[in-house]
Amino acid sequence: MSAKPARKSAHAVAATASRKPEAAMITDVKAIRARARQHIQDGAITSSYNADRGTVIKLLNEALATEIVCVLRYKRHYFMASGLMADAVKAEFLEHANEEQAHADRIAERIVQLGGEPDLNPDVLSKRSHAEYVEGSDLRDMVKEDLVAERIAIDSYREIIDYLGDRDTTTKRMMESILAQEEEHADELADLLDGWTGK
Ligand SMILES: [Fe+2]
Ligand SMILES: [Fe+2]
Repeated sequence: MSAKPARKSAHAVAATASRKPEAAMITDVKAIRARARQHIQDGAITSSYNADRGTVIKLLNEALATEIVCVLRYKRHYFMASGLMADAVKAEFLEHANEEQAHADRIAERIVQLGGEPDLNPDVLSKRSHAEYVEGSDLRDMVKEDLVAERIAIDSYREIIDYLGDRDTTTKRMMESILAQEEEHADELADLLDGWTGK
């Protein structure tokens, strides 16, 4: 069944009819076009970009390091998981590792869009990461450490989002959607810990 197209109210029809096409533009098109031609090497970043690009790139590189360390920690836990609940938990670890990798890729792509370079130098990744790489002594400990790391990511991403505010809404939206997934991860890990039996 196809939905009926929404009917315009009489008010909306009148407003459309009376509006001159050019007058409806938000700003001078010529000026926008001229600005776009200047600094074309800046790619997606135009002169209306309001944030401090260097700071945003630095914050994103910290988030990128956090994601990579999380991928590595989840992978380690995935391969080392053993015990009564290992099968169910292993699947969760692997899913989280893959989702953290997808976050890392989105962040790295945005860094490039902003004219920066994703810093993936393994020598400095763990120092820049907000979350830690903790191996965990047993399955329950691994889940606990993953929950701690997720909570750290949640707090630091929320701070990045607050900083971005209205200055860079594209980066902000990306970080908001990553944050939502970190909250899901934390929720799943907390549920696992709640119903824990055995090692
Ligand atoms: Fe993540
Ligand atoms: Fe996560």
